Amino acid sequence: MKTIVLLNSKGGVGKSNITRHLAVAAEQEKSGSAVLCDTDPQGSLADWWNAREAETPQLATIALSDFKAKIQVIASSFRYMFVDTAASDAEPYTEVLEQADLIIIPVQPSPDDVRSLSRLTLPVVKASGKPFLFVLSKARQGTELLVSTMAALSEHGIVCPTIIAQREGYAKASLSGSTLLEEEPNGKGADEMRELWKYMKSRIDEKNNSSKKKEALNV
Ligand SMILES: Nc1ncnc2c1ncn2[C@@H]1O[C@H](COP(=O)(O)OP(=O)(O)OP(=O)(O)O)[C@@H](O)[C@H]1O
Ligand SMILES: [Mg+2]
Repeated sequence: MKTIVLLNSKGGVGKSNITRHLAVAAEQEKSGSAVLCDTDPQGSLADWWNAREAETPQLATIALSDFKAKIQVIASSFRYMFVDTAASDAEPYTEVLEQADLIIIPVQPSPDDVRSLSRLTLPVVKASGKPFLFVLSKARQGTELLVSTMAALSEHGIVCPTIIAQREGYAKASLSGSTLLEEEPNGKGADEMRELWKYMKSRIDEKNNSSKKKEALNV
């Protein structure tokens, strides 16, 4: 199982929205089953899941203190796990990040958000030594702010070329526990989420292939 953790200490940046869309994108693509994990005491991902009719993706409730042991138990049943986190100090997520194959950091295009990121979230992410990716979220295409935020972020790490736009449809779809992938499968929101998933998977596979090469050399 590959574990993808969505993290940003800043609230309201789109962590839960991206988490649920990625899990649905993975399920729709039928490349293997996906499981969601809500570690946020606010429980918005779990609320969304409870409002949802479809049975997939499944939801696992795992306490932070138990994370390492519990994910071993479910690892054989799923191909991908998407972990949503709380808008809080990132330090308590150190053990969760140890299990990550990729860390996604959604960021809103704003200098305030970049500044708080370098103070609160990035030190913990970098200390984990795990690959991470910035994803611009709730963005307006073609704005100077978007361009300058991407430039500022690129000094800290890789910025995903796919941008998640500000779209009312994301919030609307969440009402019934749904996603834009299901409500408007041919729309731009669905396209950008599928693209994001494709890019992320290529990063995970790239990491996989390079570690496989290392193994072969050691043998
Ligand atoms: N791309 C988007 N366009 C429009 N609205 C969005 C988008 N992404 C998220 N939202 C809305 O913005 C609000 C915050 O999003 P979300 O809950 O995903 O952020 P979060 O980072 O998980 O917040 P928290 O830190 O509180 O857990 C929600 O009402 C959500 O529906
Ligand atoms: Mg959230």
